[in-house]
Amino acid sequence: MLEDFERYPLTFGPTPIEKLSRLSDHLGGDVEIFAKREDCNSGLAFGGNKLRKLEYIVPDAIKSGADTLVSIGGVQSNHTRMVAAVAAKIGLKCRLVQEAWVPHEDAVYDRVGNIMLSRIMGADVRLAEDGFDIGIRRSWEEAIEDVKAKGGKPYAIPAGASVHPYGGLGYVGFAEEVRRQEADLGFQFDYVVVCTVTGSTHAGMTVGFAKDGRAEKVIGIDASATPAQTKAQVVEIARRTADLVKLGREIEERDVVLVEDYAYPIYGVPSEETKEAIRLCARLEGMITDPVYEGKSMQGMIDLVSKGYFPKGSKILYAHLGGAPALNGYGYTFRNG
Ligand SMILES: Cc1ncc(COP(=O)(O)O)c(C=O)c1O
Repeated sequence: MLEDFERYPLTFGPTPIEKLSRLSDHLGGDVEIFAKREDCNSGLAFGGNKLRKLEYIVPDAIKSGADTLVSIGGVQSNHTRMVAAVAAKIGLKCRLVQEAWVPHEDAVYDRVGNIMLSRIMGADVRLAEDGFDIGIRRSWEEAIEDVKAKGGKPYAIPAGASVHPYGGLGYVGFAEEVRRQEADLGFQFDYVVVCTVTGSTHAGMTVGFAKDGRAEKVIGIDASATPAQTKAQVVEIARRTADLVKLGREIEERDVVLVEDYAYPIYGVPSEETKEAIRLCARLEGMITDPVYEGKSMQGMIDLVSKGYFPKGSKILYAHLGGAPALNGYGYTFRNG
C-alpha cells in the first residue's frame, strides 16, 4: 500500500511480537495476549510510535530545504523527544513548544524524562502555559513564525505528527508488517489494541487493516479524555490516508472503534486503576508502560478481557507504542513501587 511513498529509515526494522503468557494466564487464560514492541523499534532516544510516522515525513522535510524542525506537545511529550532525536540524526536544528497539558504533580516534572532528553539532544525547548488540546495551536504557529523571523527555514510537524498530510502512513505500514508476521506465525490476530490521543496511529492502522476487512478489529483506547475531538481526528486522518494510499473504499465512522472509559480522570494523570495495570504488567511480564498512554490502554485491555469483551479463544495484539521515559516525571506516584 506504501510503494509510492518515500521512506527514510529511522527504525531497526519489523518490531518483535512477544506472547504475554503470564498476563494471559493471570486474566483467566480465555484469550491469548501478545505485544508488538513498538517501544523497542529504534536506537534513537528510546524509540516509539512517532518514528514510524516520521519515516514518511522526513523525506519531505529534507526536500523542503528546511534547517529547523518545529513541533509541539505537552511538557513530557514523547513525540517532541522523537522529533529532537530525528533532527539530531539528520543534522537539522529543532525548536519545541512544550505546553502545560498536564497539571504537574512532581517538582522535577519539567526537568526529567522526555524533556531532559530533548534538551540533551540540543533542541531549543520552550515552555508554554496553554492547556491540553490536540488541535493546531497558536504557540506552535508563533514558534514557526519566530524561526522565520530569525532567518531560519522551519519545517512544521504538528502534535503527534498526526494532522501532517503523511502522518497516517507509518501505521498503514504497521498493518502490512503484522500481516507478514501473521503469515510466519501461522495465525491471524482477532483484535489489535492501541492507545489513541492525537489519532494518526489508530487512523493508519484502521486504513491498513481495512485492506483485509479488519478495520473495526482495531480497538482504540482513548487516553485524551476529549474523545469526541480525538475520534473526529482519527476519522479525518483515516479518510485522508485512505485516499492517499488508494485504499479503494471510503472510511466510515463505524470503522473507527474508540473506547472512552479509561482516560479518566484527565489526560496525563493516571487513575488508581491505571497505576494498578502498570504494576501488574511490570510484575508479570517485566514490560514497562507509562501513566499517560500505554498504562491507560493496558488498563483498558485488562478490563475488557475481564468483562468478556473479547470472545473466548481470541488472539489479541497489544500495540506497545513506547512512552516509558515519561515515568521519570511520576517519581512521587510510584515512590513505593
Ligand atoms: C507512548 C504513546 N502512546 C500512544 C500515543 C498516542 O498516539 P497518537 O497520538 O498517534 O494517537 C502517543 C502519542 O500521542 C504516545 O507517545
